[in-house]
Amino acid sequence: MHRFSILETRIHDSFVEAVYTGLSSRPRSLPPRYFYDADGTRLFDLICELPEYYVARTEMTILRRHAHEFPTASTVIEFGGGTGAKTRLLFDAFFRTRERMTYVPVDISKTALFESAGPLLETYPRLRVHAIQAEFDRACELIPGEPSLVLFLGSNIGNFSHEESVRFLSALRGHQVLVGFDMQKDPSILRAAYNDDQGVTARFNLNVLARINRELGGTFDLGAWEHLSFYNQCESRIEMHLVSKRAHEVHIGSIGHTFAFDAGEHLHTENSYKFSREQIRRIARDSGLNVARIWTDEREWFSLALLS
Ligand code: AVJ
Repeated sequence: MHRFSILETRIHDSFVEAVYTGLSSRPRSLPPRYFYDADGTRLFDLICELPEYYVARTEMTILRRHAHEFPTASTVIEFGGGTGAKTRLLFDAFFRTRERMTYVPVDISKTALFESAGPLLETYPRLRVHAIQAEFDRACELIPGEPSLVLFLGSNIGNFSHEESVRFLSALRGHQVLVGFDMQKDPSILRAAYNDDQGVTARFNLNVLARINRELGGTFDLGAWEHLSFYNQCESRIEMHLVSKRAHEVHIGSIGHTFAFDAGEHLHTENSYKFSREQIRRIARDSGLNVARIWTDEREWFSLALLS
């Protein structure tokens, strides 16, 4: 396919090292990016359909309403595009005024890049795709230098600390950056979104242990762990943890080590920050960017901020 190219880079990120580091530190933790193997990605797609999980739906509503107001550019760069539904909404709007466009999706997974690019190229005959397989922080040096529109949607930024957000966004100066932020709201709504009645979020959380078993020869008994999520008011973030129901040991073959867990011990698996307009302005300012515009829904549950 002459409209497609892929730049592959060496992925430095190592699951086994992250697991070793996370299980050796106190309190124990695992980085949330490891949720997304094939099973985890499928579970996340199911989360997005849950009645309690307003995040994806609300962002989609804002995109649908305002896509024609977003700036366009001949190059659109997207970090962690997902299923491509949001991208399509934007492309439908952008192609009304643009003859050609180059789409630069950035993802750590080659499979994700191929699976999203194929259908897009079929739908949009005037689109070119230059995919980049890389870690987000390294990709910033590889993206085109010409002023582009950069997409960082879905409140993926919510997984970053303030310092990580600033480091990432600083590298995007010179571009227009459209960032999705999940906003602070009544904590009961937040708690329900991360603790759904069907238990899909619990399965999503537990899947990281199943993944350690599959890929690293682990002996985690999923029945020995409980999903816990709560809103940390001081940090304005949802935290997800796995809590050990009893004292037990887990061997991990690839590490060649047995880890002992106490009854009630926590394994911290995710932070999902919730934002205010003030915090969005602070992140932009600390990154050397301006908040050019904010689009939101009537309840202000989610915001798309254009930083430039
Ligand atoms: C993909 C990071 C935006 O924080 O809401 C969903 C991941 N975790 N349910 C989020 C997630 C639990 C999601 N992000």
